[in-house]
Amino acid sequence: MSAIEKILLETPGLEDEPWDVERIREDFPVLKQTVNGKPLVYLDNAASSQVPQVVIDRGSKYLREEHSNIHRGVHYLSQRATTAYEGAREKVRRFINARDVRECIFVRGATEGINLVMHGYGRKFIKEGDEIIISAMEHHANIVPWQMLCEEKGARLRVIPMNEAGELLLDEYDALLNERTKLVAVNHVSNALGTINPVKEIIARAHKMGVPVLIDGAQSAPHLTVDVQDLDCDFYTLSGHKMFAPTGSGVIYGKTELLEKMNPFQGGGDMIRTVTFEKTTYAGLPNKFEAGTPAIASQIGLGAAIDYLNSIGRERAVRYEQELLRYATERISAIEGVTLIGTAREKASVLSFIIENVHPHDVGTILDQEGIAVRAGHHCAQPVMQFFKVPATARASFAFYNTKEEVDALAHAIEKVIEVFS
Ligand code: ALA
Repeated sequence: MSAIEKILLETPGLEDEPWDVERIREDFPVLKQTVNGKPLVYLDNAASSQVPQVVIDRGSKYLREEHSNIHRGVHYLSQRATTAYEGAREKVRRFINARDVRECIFVRGATEGINLVMHGYGRKFIKEGDEIIISAMEHHANIVPWQMLCEEKGARLRVIPMNEAGELLLDEYDALLNERTKLVAVNHVSNALGTINPVKEIIARAHKMGVPVLIDGAQSAPHLTVDVQDLDCDFYTLSGHKMFAPTGSGVIYGKTELLEKMNPFQGGGDMIRTVTFEKTTYAGLPNKFEAGTPAIASQIGLGAAIDYLNSIGRERAVRYEQELLRYATERISAIEGVTLIGTAREKASVLSFIIENVHPHDVGTILDQEGIAVRAGHHCAQPVMQFFKVPATARASFAFYNTKEEVDALAHAIEKVIEVFS
């Protein structure tokens, strides 16, 4: 069963509850503005999503009433800040269904999460001649750290190829897995194409060879439900700012037995047990990986964003986004001169496209004049652009607060672009 089918079929009563998108939009103050005299149409959610008022309020409350350093003070404010910060960690644990809250390490975002695993696991356990498997549709955050590691260790990066629809070729993956493979690192959802990858299957096949798997969940945490125990992934990382929380928040989940044998990522305060000039011993999980004062307000905000997502109904949001994506795919692909890049059977919330004879940057600029925010560029995934032989794409990426009317506005603006360049 596919990831979407699983969510939709296993949640009874989803059909009966209509999604009140206008009500939801009220929760996001930023959406109420006009840009270039037009109502803002925000379709750049894959780059960063907007923040609801309850999350803004939670961050302000911390700054107004609770601000203090955590884990360090016996005083009242420090204890309140620590309780709020650790409370957010427990919310994360429940959100991804980790077994133990100590498996949820706070990081700045998915990029830092992957770098933490590269330094803490990769540099310790990957040796000359070893192989790391990634996929052809990774963004730079899940390519470059592994390349750096391979260069340092004399290891080799192998890449699971994809087809023209933007779907991974699992037979080729099987052929890549061998006794030299020491790690598999793939995204759950592609930021450039929207493809939902069959990560459960990818994990199961790696585990048969005893290989751990890191899942980059930067684009899946906001658009799917996530259960790290069901996936059985060894690492899973997410970025708060792509799931309605402030920038600077994020998580790397890791299985206890792996995190315990890894090296710390950074050295400093809060990650130690004892320090002498001769020797330092490290704190237990999760502190071992959280050196220095963290982004306290942002991580508390991430906890509030999770509360918000739970309150509106994750599964209902997924269902609505799927409907919106279907509508947008039909509407935009019907425009003559437009080609969709990324047409996998299972997708989440991303519509990448090119317009014949128009550079995507010009598309982005003209859409901006219409008040429509899309990303135009390589989406930090240059190898994906190389595969499709395009310099860049324009990418509309949706969240549960976007509307069919906004998709219509996008379609009209694209028609305008075509007119200008014809
Ligand atoms: N990875 C982010 C994006 O897809 C920045 O736009």
